[in-house]
Amino acid sequence: MVAFLTSLPTWELIRFLGLLAYLLLFAGVSLGMLYSMPVWKGKGKAALYKCHSTVTVAGTFCGILHAMILVIDTYMPFSWLEILIPFRAAYKPLWNGIGTLAAYGTLILILTTDLRNRMPHKLWRMIHIGSYPVFLAALIHGLGVGSDTKHPAVYLMYVLSFGIMVLLLIVRLFFGRKRDRAYLAHRG
Ligand code: HEM
Repeated sequence: MVAFLTSLPTWELIRFLGLLAYLLLFAGVSLGMLYSMPVWKGKGKAALYKCHSTVTVAGTFCGILHAMILVIDTYMPFSWLEILIPFRAAYKPLWNGIGTLAAYGTLILILTTDLRNRMPHKLWRMIHIGSYPVFLAALIHGLGVGSDTKHPAVYLMYVLSFGIMVLLLIVRLFFGRKRDRAYLAHRG
């Protein structure tokens, strides 16, 4: 079994899963920002929420699998401690440590969303705002550690996804302010 696992092209799989996790997290955070804009109603809103949570969970799963396969990789093997404890890796400790923090961050976001109804809404929101630094951590980790970063298409993917995220954030801040003003006017 171990011989079979180590005979798999694990290094390629690790890189593929890292890129897939990043893209899914990008899509998940973008869908969450779209969902928070007050233009959706009824079934469309429910479908958007379902997409947001499914894509984010899939991204977290791929990110964790991506890190776990490093244990059986023969090209660049990692120990469990190097994966689980941030900045302990012998290879590029800073960039890999940021990857570990991103993985913990995605897990916390998913678990707290599952427990959302059992905690104060303000606390949940504060934690959920953490999805921005978590996404940024995944981006910095991918850019810093990835051997595919030097590929123009992959580099362009990072630049475009970051640009789209900044644009969505600007629109989100605009809608947020409008919503706050409407709320204050309503309260008098
Ligand atoms: C949510 C969590 C994570 C995400 C989204 C993520 C994402 C990525 C991305 C996008 C790449 C670049 C792939 C490439 O250029 O081919 C990558 C590479 C890599 N990541 Fe992660 N990662 C995560 C967690 C981790 C963790 C916890 C570790 C281990 C400490 C780790 C170790 C690595 C390594 C060793 C590489 C390959 C570097 C290379 O190609 O030379 N990642 N990751």
